[in-house]
Amino acid sequence: ELCKGLNGIDKVILREVRGCSAQVYLYGGQVISWKNEYGEELLFVSSKAVFKPPKAIRGGIPICFPQFGSQGSLEQHGFARNRLWSIDPDPPPFPVNNPNKAFVDLILKHSEEDMKIWPHRYEFRLRITLGPGGDLMLTSRIRNTNTDGKSFAFTFAYHTYLAVSDISEVRVEGLETLDYLDNMKDKERFTEQGDAITFESEVDKVYLSTPTKIAILDHERKRTFVLRKDGLPDAVVWNPWDKKAKAMPDFGDDEYKHMLCVEAACVEKPIILKPGEEWRGRQEISAVPSSYCSGQ
Ligand code: BG6
Repeated sequence: ELCKGLNGIDKVILREVRGCSAQVYLYGGQVISWKNEYGEELLFVSSKAVFKPPKAIRGGIPICFPQFGSQGSLEQHGFARNRLWSIDPDPPPFPVNNPNKAFVDLILKHSEEDMKIWPHRYEFRLRITLGPGGDLMLTSRIRNTNTDGKSFAFTFAYHTYLAVSDISEVRVEGLETLDYLDNMKDKERFTEQGDAITFESEVDKVYLSTPTKIAILDHERKRTFVLRKDGLPDAVVWNPWDKKAKAMPDFGDDEYKHMLCVEAACVEKPIILKPGEEWRGRQEISAVPSSYCSGQ
């Protein structure tokens, strides 16, 4: 279902039989809502988010491409998150007999304007699917369509803002004992010690070569997000905490308590594509009552 969102921006609403839903803005190709069958919002979007160009929308799942973070010549997190995407007229095929009807295929291509800052031709196809159980799946296919024989390199992230009840009650499992780059310490490399990760101050880390499954346990809400990824070796964990929150104009002062970014990403080693080559990267998140996960 295609309709108008805030400020007249086109959005697509996906609905699943049990009542789960998702909303995708064509601006940024960005998921900005994901609700379970009880209508509870599972993604965080700031009450101060600005839904109009040229800034990216603060919340949901912005796409960071072709650059994650500030390392590189482009603006922070690249330009895909503040471009207007289109519905893909030529989407990749689905497996035969796929029962899933709740999906949308978007596309972003190089523009003459963007080629001045990133001189490459590409086709970025993004399929967003709401699975039968309400799982939210994002699949990106990026193809190098350069005609000058040149390869290109990029970094990437699904910058996922999860909604949590109280950040101090949240635990992340699956990243313990891993190496990470600390964005707050000049990207220096450290090794995570001990147990599951908990939060009591600002965090901005890129965990390297993580397992494909990460669990985010929201103790208070008795909900666990299970994030699975494919083709994306790293995982970013970010919470701005109080000081950084106050410095962001499109983020409420206390909202850091109710969000956590966990992002399937490829940051440390850029992906390199030759002309004609395609890369695929997937992130799938499900939200399940915590009792289902205990002991796993
Ligand atoms: C995170 C980065 O992914 O995004 C942080 O690791 C950054 O360093 C944050 O501050 C938010 O970025 P932005 O550009 O959306 O404010």
